[in-house]
Amino acid sequence: MNFTRQKILGNHQMSLRAISKVWKNSKTASTKTAFENKLHLPSLPVPTLNQTIEKYVKSVTPFLNEKELENTKKLLREFSAANGIGPRLQKLLEEKAGTEENWLEAWWLNTAYLEYRQPVVVYSSPGLVFPFEDFTNEQQRLQYTATLILAALQYKTDIFGDQIPLETMGASPLDMNQYKKVFGTCRIPGEKRDSLQFNPESRHIIVAPNNHFFKMEVIDSNGNWPSLSQLKSALEVVIQESEEYDDPIGVLTTEHRDKWHKAYTELNKDPENERSLKELASALFLVALDNPMPKSSGDNWRSTASKQFIHGGGSRGNSGNRWFDKTLQFIIGEDGTVGLTYEHSPSEGQPIAVMTDYLTEYIKSKQADNLPDTKTDCYPEKLKFNINQTVAGYIHSANIHVDKLVDNLDMASFQFKCFGKNFVKSHQLSPDSFVQMAIQLAFYRIHRVPGAQYESASTRKFIHGRTETIRSCSIESVDFAKTMLDAGKTVADKVAALKEAINKHKEYAQEAVNGMGVDRHLLGLRLLANECGIPLPAIYQDPGFVRSTHMRLSTSQVATKCDGFMCYAPLTTDGYGCCYNPRPLDMNFGVSAFVECPETSASDFREALENSLRDMRDVLITAKGAKL
Ligand code: COA
Repeated sequence: MNFTRQKILGNHQMSLRAISKVWKNSKTASTKTAFENKLHLPSLPVPTLNQTIEKYVKSVTPFLNEKELENTKKLLREFSAANGIGPRLQKLLEEKAGTEENWLEAWWLNTAYLEYRQPVVVYSSPGLVFPFEDFTNEQQRLQYTATLILAALQYKTDIFGDQIPLETMGASPLDMNQYKKVFGTCRIPGEKRDSLQFNPESRHIIVAPNNHFFKMEVIDSNGNWPSLSQLKSALEVVIQESEEYDDPIGVLTTEHRDKWHKAYTELNKDPENERSLKELASALFLVALDNPMPKSSGDNWRSTASKQFIHGGGSRGNSGNRWFDKTLQFIIGEDGTVGLTYEHSPSEGQPIAVMTDYLTEYIKSKQADNLPDTKTDCYPEKLKFNINQTVAGYIHSANIHVDKLVDNLDMASFQFKCFGKNFVKSHQLSPDSFVQMAIQLAFYRIHRVPGAQYESASTRKFIHGRTETIRSCSIESVDFAKTMLDAGKTVADKVAALKEAINKHKEYAQEAVNGMGVDRHLLGLRLLANECGIPLPAIYQDPGFVRSTHMRLSTSQVATKCDGFMCYAPLTTDGYGCCYNPRPLDMNFGVSAFVECPETSASDFREALENSLRDMRDVLITAKGAKL
């Protein structure tokens, strides 16, 4: 993360063309398709030390008293002095960047994901809730599932046939390579570091009911797919053959990665298990036909669905009916709650959201009904596992551990219906920055201290770009929150503070998408110090660094055109997760907190967020009315 200051001229020109727009206009949005040329994207830049330090000091200011801030500045001066360690590390980083397409790519994949040892469930893999389908019987569910499978096959074909539209941010094309990493991908547990296996040429999928795993060949050797009715018949067979609940071998994938690696090694000793593991890893995707999830009604449904797609409800629920290492797992509830969970390491949420809109549109279009019957045999084959005592022990402890994770996750997802991004745009403000400031205000409202806030910014303008952190908590955001909550301030004061905070946020966001944030640069310097055997520089142990990276708010925008939303757990024990989908007339939020923290509550946060959004709207309307 790093940035240079840019004038916020024409913010809107920088906006990420969310798929909702690109997909709708897929034939016209761009003359180029995603992979038709090599794009010649620029390499991720390395900011200068001074650029990063200048921004960094501002971003840590809300978390420090005067004395602490002076000390932080002193440490930074020592770090960046001509004879300090900073310039040495900077030179090495610039040299690395000069020889690699993207200096961060491998480092990021390893440090953010593959070397991270906590379970992917709750700690890393998001859920994505699709619009509710309302199945009244099993036949409807199977019909939907068969259509979804065909939709996903069509999407995969479009990706690899170079038929998906190129996404752009303003005039800049975006790197599209994440799209090719979603189908056929699996994370494999390793000792200390996992790995990713890519199988895009694979021809089968896995269907999981009642903890069983069935292999279904959905593309024959001539490239033909089954028809909708053939697929539905195959799914009926799957249901018939899985009436009995099977050993929840899938629950092992919810484990701490070191433990899962041990269990995986043990499983692999048996040749039949080894084959089943290979089939799971190489499948294009998995479809979980879940047992009933807890009943919920009204808006509570969104929270129940979020849990279903983040963790599956634990050992008594559907957590064993998953293979959490698969990048893509569609989950079909028996009542019409549908969605997915995805393993985060190969892709960000936005390509998954784009796919969601594609699938939703495809299913609505009923085009699958017209696919001809073929000779394709997609008869399901049950994958067998032989479970010895050691593996049974691993399953037993995985069940206990996943239940702890489940019991600890509190969700309060909701749809905010009062207004959407059109209202914000009508006030010439950036909707994303507006929501970010509402989250800042909600946190301050509850806790009365600044909350370090992580927002993902896409760096896909650069070759193989992933993300940079937008540090949304700023001097201006804290001032805004205090002003809003101060009864002595006028509407004009509040609007001025709101606009100042939004504009500062937008400025940082633009710098972040241009590869000029703070955090990735500091990470690169730290990793280089480590690789060179240099002791950790003092700036990384300073309260400014520690507090500004203790992200009590983990947020991101994941936009879909359909009524869907992404959700995930907080990054810190005392924090919140808050993922949002600002649509033209409403906004969907996936809100989470951990039960173990007595200071936080997902439903309190939801309430504070709704109040904040409404208060912000009210001051804008009042100020505008006064002017008129
Ligand atoms: N006045 C009027 N309209 C404005 C405006 C202003 N001052 N500022 C922005 N807008 C408009 C934009 O033109 C855009 O219009 P569109 O809906 O017609 O495209 C819209 O408001 C949205 O812009 P904005 O809210 O500023 O945000 P953005 O779309 O540029 O998104 C980020 C900002 C940081 C979220 C985006 O750049 C990004 O990086 N997204 C990826 C996040 C990610 O990785 N998520 C996954 C994590 S797993």
